[in-house]
Amino acid sequence: MKIYVINGPSLNMLGVREPDIYGKTTYEELVSLIEEHCAMRGVEAVIYQSNHEGDLVDKIQEAYFEGAFGIVINPAAYTHTSIALLDALKAVSLPAVEVHISDVDAREEFRRVSYVRAAVKKTVSGKGVKGYLEAIDYLCEAAK
Ligand code: DQA
Repeated sequence: MKIYVINGPSLNMLGVREPDIYGKTTYEELVSLIEEHCAMRGVEAVIYQSNHEGDLVDKIQEAYFEGAFGIVINPAAYTHTSIALLDALKAVSLPAVEVHISDVDAREEFRRVSYVRAAVKKTVSGKGVKGYLEAIDYLCEAAK
């Protein structure tokens, strides 16, 4: 049972990057949180981060070819711009949850647009890094 957790640009800078918005948890700490949570649930987590749109598309396709049961994706800024990520999620048709650490609807107008939303089962926004764990729980329950 494999779940893919895919993170977009600048999420590797968590902890350093605008901590008033994204919190003080570092990316490495987020990875540990996810790994521990997935181990507790008895699922294998493949956790990935890239600053490059095409690499994120490749990882979504890999999730399909590796037989993953779901994808948690925080596309970061690509949320608001990327038809490529939307199409990739639609192409693999795996259950997916969109996560945002910050509350994107309460920020700038341009963050209210999400291209990937049309291809996900659920959006978790504004719950900090715990939002990833909620998304994992949702996909694990849905796979039962
Ligand atoms: C983000 C919100 C996006 O608007 C932003 O571009 C990010 C992170 C979040 O996790 O809150 O990079 O996806």
